[in-house]
Amino acid sequence: MAGQTMTAPAEKPALSRPGILIPALSVAAAAAWCTSLAVGHTHTFDVGIHRLALSAHVLAMVLAFGSVIVVDWVGFLWLVGKRGLRDTSRLEQAAAPLIWAGLAGLLVTGALIHPDITSPATQLKMCCVLGLMLNGISLIPVMRRLHLLPEGTMFKEVSGSLRARLLVALVLSQAFWWTAIMVGFANSISRR
Ligand code: HEM
Repeated sequence: MAGQTMTAPAEKPALSRPGILIPALSVAAAAAWCTSLAVGHTHTFDVGIHRLALSAHVLAMVLAFGSVIVVDWVGFLWLVGKRGLRDTSRLEQAAAPLIWAGLAGLLVTGALIHPDITSPATQLKMCCVLGLMLNGISLIPVMRRLHLLPEGTMFKEVSGSLRARLLVALVLSQAFWWTAIMVGFANSISRR
């Protein structure tokens, strides 16, 4: 129309496009995981650093897993109709930086305490660590879809495919975390 200027839709930054974001984050997580294992396997640090890193490892676990438990629990309460969708979304958004900071701490401190990657139990633990990171990343677009739903949406009103996806993610998250924690403690006890 005469006198009107047409503005092109704003370009989204490349990494915020869902098609690129998820593979990019998955590759970054896998690379961080590989680096942590490679450093941990090839380097041995002195006893003082080892002790400090083991304490920091447990603290990082408390930060990440504590936040995961609260998010998964409130998600479960929404699932059984005891909480609103908004509670779940707000909590998930607030807790995400704590979870990822804790996970980064686990990768860094884990590398300083010399994991025995030839042990099958440690291999199982490490697969769980990679699995829980990739599970968390794959949930990003799912959570975005959930955040777009109206405030009072109940779990049973959500599409069957989204419900199945959320349930699988919840079960996988808990299974990976508990296995990693149990193996971590079992390894520690058997090394003493
Ligand atoms: C979700 C991630 C992880 C969880 C939940 C986890 C959990 C744990 C727990 C509970 C312990 C026992 C601590 C203690 O006895 O005081 C532990 C120990 C340990 N963790 Fe982790 N950890 C994780 C990631 C990692 C990573 C990425 C590495 C190495 C790259 C690692 C290497 C170790 C080592 C070397 C020990 C000492 C026991 C052993 O000899 O295996 N952990 N972890």
